[in-house]
Amino acid sequence: MGFGLRARLCAAALSAGVLAASGAALAHSWDEKVFSSHVDFAAVAAKGEAAIPALIERGRQLFKAKFTEADGAGRPLATQAIVPTLRKHGRNPAFTRTSGPDSSACASCHNEPVQGGAGDFVANVFVSEGFESAEFDSIDPSFSNERHTPPVLGDGLLELLGREMTADLRAERDAAIAKAWATGKDVSADLVTKGVRFGSVVAHPDGALDVSRVEGVDPDLTVRPFSRKGVFGSIRQFTINALNVHHGMEASERFGVRWTGSHDFDGSGVPDAVTPGDVSALVAWQATTPPPIERADLPADWEAAAKAGSKAFEAIGCSSCHMKTLPLKSMVFVDPSPYETAGTLRLSDVKEPIRIDLAKQPFAKTLKRDAQGDWLIPLFSDMKRHVMVDPLVNSLGNELMAQRFVARDTFLTPRLWGVGSTAPYGHRGDFRTLDAIIKAHGGESRFARDAYLSLPEDGRQDVIAYLRSLQIPEK
Ligand code: HEC
Ligand code: HEC
Repeated sequence: MGFGLRARLCAAALSAGVLAASGAALAHSWDEKVFSSHVDFAAVAAKGEAAIPALIERGRQLFKAKFTEADGAGRPLATQAIVPTLRKHGRNPAFTRTSGPDSSACASCHNEPVQGGAGDFVANVFVSEGFESAEFDSIDPSFSNERHTPPVLGDGLLELLGREMTADLRAERDAAIAKAWATGKDVSADLVTKGVRFGSVVAHPDGALDVSRVEGVDPDLTVRPFSRKGVFGSIRQFTINALNVHHGMEASERFGVRWTGSHDFDGSGVPDAVTPGDVSALVAWQATTPPPIERADLPADWEAAAKAGSKAFEAIGCSSCHMKTLPLKSMVFVDPSPYETAGTLRLSDVKEPIRIDLAKQPFAKTLKRDAQGDWLIPLFSDMKRHVMVDPLVNSLGNELMAQRFVARDTFLTPRLWGVGSTAPYGHRGDFRTLDAIIKAHGGESRFARDAYLSLPEDGRQDVIAYLRSLQIPEK
């Protein structure tokens, strides 16, 4: 997995220059420290396209860097909570497998079969919102939801799809509100974007909005592509959470003086450990990672089976949720996102954002385009949440804590690109084979699972052959 050596930023390759980095140089070239300098967000934004390759390279290195106390790793006085929260008592040890910090680097978990990939069961995370029982040393599901590590590859495309879908849904809602106001009558609007239906809203003439029929997305109509529940909208927001939870590395844009009144909220001894520019480097690398591919060099028997499996996948209804492609209008990734919320850098916080044109990345050549010129993103998801449990087929109903008001039996349709490389499967990684996770589909997906089961053995094998051809290239 190319991650054996202690990762440290190479001062020569990453020195000031292009990134206009700031910070103290290493005292010795053997220092046990990751950061010899920090990235300056404003300088990178001002430099424009010319600064992007170095920013991406810095992000690649930060993703595998093993942070140390000299960088600010650990959070002796603070918890893993997303909102800055001080511990009630005691000091947090350097590592705690359950409530974190649980690892040295992002790539400690996201590494199969390449950096940024998935994780085996041993890399599971115990997700708790961490306010009350911040410290827990139990893997009992009443303390946390155990989650399996997904790949971050292609995440820039996912975030852009989420932003465009959010814009569409909100425009439909706003048009209904305006029409109800103008006509003095109730106006019902279907919420449809990129061929996916998210229920409907009813706008009343007095400006009130009935969201009781909204489906698969939060009532604010923000499509959030990240986490198994679909509760995080941006790579940036997730990265700041992850830095704190897993490594005790606090980003100043959330844990710094603006929101907490302190430059060292977690008591690590290192002020402003992660700058907005450092976060942007991590975002830039993740956003520009190439998406997984459908393998084109299969042996003839596998290719024939995969071809039949691709048809069956549609015929039995898998693609009603795992939509093979979604169309994307613009490939320009603007950091920070226009939909960012407080505690993560927002557009209004910066003079100008960083712009990365994903169309210029080598992987863009592999994407097909439709008649409108939209990019067809082969993600195999509808970016919508579904109930996955019913009384008879209920093995995915193993979480005991609702997260952010999303019901316990409800999960975001995971994209299946790369699924041939990311066993084991399911939100907890409980299923060793594709056949097993397909058989675990209950609730809204029960019909497709039953149709799969009623295929002859050869037909089921075709579906597996197809899914196994969706891979993360190993180089
Ligand atoms: C201990 C293992 C572990 C480490 C370390 C880790 N992650 Fe993750 N990562 C996960 C798991 C598990 C999830 C799914 C979380 C969920 O569904 O609630 C995840 C999800 C993500 C996602 C959202 C992907 C998606 O599609 O939902 C991003 C982005 C991400 N991680 C980035 C990072 C970054 C950046 C770091 C380092 C700062 C990091 N991760 C460190 C295990 C890890
Ligand atoms: C109603 C929507 C829906 C339908 C229909 C559906 N799925 Fe899924 N699928 C999901 C959701 C949601 C999950 C996440 C389940 C979890 O982990 O909790 C999932 C998970 C998966 C996974 C595991 C992915 C991973 O990385 O762990 C595979 C593989 C998969 N589905 C294949 C299929 C196949 C094949 C079919 C057709 C027989 C199908 N699905 C039908 C919604 C659906």
